[in-house]
Amino acid sequence: MTDQATRSERYYLTTPIYYVNARPHLGHAYSTVVCDAIARRKRALGIDTWFLTGTDEHGQKIERSAKLAGCAPQEFADAIAAEFRGLWDRLGLTYDDFIRTTEPRHKRGVQRLFATLRERGFIYKGRYSGQYCIYDEAYVDGPPGTLCPDCGRLTENVSEENYYFKLSAFERKLLEFYEENPEFMGPESTRREVISFVRGGLRDLSVSRTSFSWGIPVPGDEKHVVYVWLDALANYITALGYGSDDPTDKARFERFWPADMHLIGKEISRFHCVYWPAFLMAAGIAPPKSVRANGWLLFDQGKMSKSRGNIVRADTVMQVLGTDALRYFLMREIPFGQDGNFSFDALVQRYNGDLANGYGNLVSRVVNMVHKYFGGVVPEVGAETQAEITLRAHAERGVAEFGPAFDALNFSDVLKQLWLLVAETDGYLTANAPWKKPADRSDSDHAKLQARVLATAAEAIRIITALAYPVLPDAAAKVWRQLGLGEIAEAARSGFLKHLTWGGLKAGTKFGEPAPLFPRAEKDAVERMQNLEDENNRSVVEAAGNKPGMVTPAPGPTNPVVGAVRTERGAHIEPESPGEAAPTGTTAAPGDAAQPVNAVPTEPVAPEHATRTLSPTPVSAAHESPASETISIDDFAKVELRVAQILVAERVPKADKLLRLEVDLGYEKRQILAGIAQHYEPEKLIGRKIVIVANLAPRKMRGLESNGMLLAASLEGGAPVLAGFLEDVPLGARLK
Ligand code: MSP
Repeated sequence: MTDQATRSERYYLTTPIYYVNARPHLGHAYSTVVCDAIARRKRALGIDTWFLTGTDEHGQKIERSAKLAGCAPQEFADAIAAEFRGLWDRLGLTYDDFIRTTEPRHKRGVQRLFATLRERGFIYKGRYSGQYCIYDEAYVDGPPGTLCPDCGRLTENVSEENYYFKLSAFERKLLEFYEENPEFMGPESTRREVISFVRGGLRDLSVSRTSFSWGIPVPGDEKHVVYVWLDALANYITALGYGSDDPTDKARFERFWPADMHLIGKEISRFHCVYWPAFLMAAGIAPPKSVRANGWLLFDQGKMSKSRGNIVRADTVMQVLGTDALRYFLMREIPFGQDGNFSFDALVQRYNGDLANGYGNLVSRVVNMVHKYFGGVVPEVGAETQAEITLRAHAERGVAEFGPAFDALNFSDVLKQLWLLVAETDGYLTANAPWKKPADRSDSDHAKLQARVLATAAEAIRIITALAYPVLPDAAAKVWRQLGLGEIAEAARSGFLKHLTWGGLKAGTKFGEPAPLFPRAEKDAVERMQNLEDENNRSVVEAAGNKPGMVTPAPGPTNPVVGAVRTERGAHIEPESPGEAAPTGTTAAPGDAAQPVNAVPTEPVAPEHATRTLSPTPVSAAHESPASETISIDDFAKVELRVAQILVAERVPKADKLLRLEVDLGYEKRQILAGIAQHYEPEKLIGRKIVIVANLAPRKMRGLESNGMLLAASLEGGAPVLAGFLEDVPLGARLK
């Protein structure tokens, strides 16, 4: 075999590695499911395939999330990484390796890469003074106060001695590389964006940090940690064995690198299409063959994400409609590369239309009739008529066109075409009606027609099923057994798609027992999924302040979600109905008589924490008479009011009124919860200076710790108005 032939028979594809600061949701599942379908098809074509996924566990963002959750970063990362892996396993994803960036094999590889870049003269020491976005772990051009161009969050001012990578040396090389490899990146929008970014000029890139320590130490200068993106991108080679001297690792790396495809979300194209090939070129390693960006999964008009609080979990869909329904929807509904809306209604419509009434119904009709009329044994087709010749021709064309379109990632089109074949087979069956014998047709002619039509329809189903297998692996496995063909996974292992031709279902094959594939979704399916999400969100919100390992497990048969949730300390909280106003501050500490609280409506809180002085927006109602009692200056001096700036503002999922804020006091940063979500858009609060009570005892709401309280004027029947300043004031300044 030539070297070329050997290389072409292996395929290495990767998902992005997921940050462990958020739990997995459908947006994360999307790229992983797509990769799984590609990997399954490649293997079924007899190609030696390596499918990698994993988690991105270093950086300041993770360090801070762990701190807020009150645990060590490693403990935090362990718990969330286990959630990702658990979900991928429940979804039946066939990844070959799951890399975690905190693993020794990764650390070793990153240090080797860093050392190689330095030895080859592409890394030098310098000082960076400027703005940094912690959320995106990226430097941002502009003066203090600049908002990050990617996420809109306020950047932080940093000044640190760093190692720099000579990215500027790669401007021309990269442009030439893109030119010579037009297939390197896609879709076209990504390609254009990346090229214009590089043409705009590349400056050297800081590739180490000293401002935090949760990362991989720079070899030989351990007060620096490696920049998270250099660390993260390297996973694609360290997982194969780069950096290891073990012969098995070396062989794996030799076999599978360069990657055939990195599948990524569109917002991380620059890292993958600019920095990554530049790092590799500098290290003398071949760049990947291609990078393909998927669009975003939207829900309620916005990108599904933790910070927007609009996530849907894969488990919810799996529980109600099964994993194949989820896979089919994601690949059929959203043209790959574009943003796509997720909705429970659209999901159920697709499920019933294409899977239950379409494919599922076709299979059930044919399998049942073969059992009824032929004792479950495939009959001889006999002489074909024009109808069979046409169906066969369409199926053969389908086989020929499916592969190239699938390889071009046109999944939605491919499935649409395949389902035309489903409809055509269904129509063929109906037109020939093998179940109905007209009076003028002899018994023997009718038996011939039945044999011809059912054998042909069954063969069409075999072709459809083989092609659909990468997208619908569970259903395909069931159908394969019903067609008497055994285990499809075994067929896939022996590369059955390579030789997929019409006529594979031989006469005499004994069918398996009929079994339901996609039972029709009932009217309440949407409601059931919505309820599962609501229930889960209540559990998650409640558990969010716990260590991640203690987070309430996903609802399932073994741990049903009940209508009320328990706090960490066992206090019982009645669930809030969605959209319903929460009790207006009438909770009281145990043992206290319930006392009314003059506050805007707050979220229900655990009774043991709820005291009236600690409500999230503690403002006197304007309609009430001012306090009649006076206090001494010493009393007032006890209250530490300070200026703070909002760095992060996000909704607390399914807590209608609550915002989670991260604020900067100049001397420290902290988390505060405020009941202003109905009156302030979180995005618009970022960067705003506010006044907080800084010495309030911490309290927990919805499982999250609030360290302080913001001040706002409360207007009768109106929205609260945040206190602020007309002049510029330094952070942390005390109000006296
Ligand atoms: N850790 C980096 C990637 C490093 S790769 C060397 C990262 N992590 S992430 O968890 O924020 O995102 C991982 C992937 O999930 C990205 O490709 C991102 O686009 C994808 N998605 C997260 N939410 C998504 C949607 N709502 N829709 C589609 N994909 C989305 O970035």
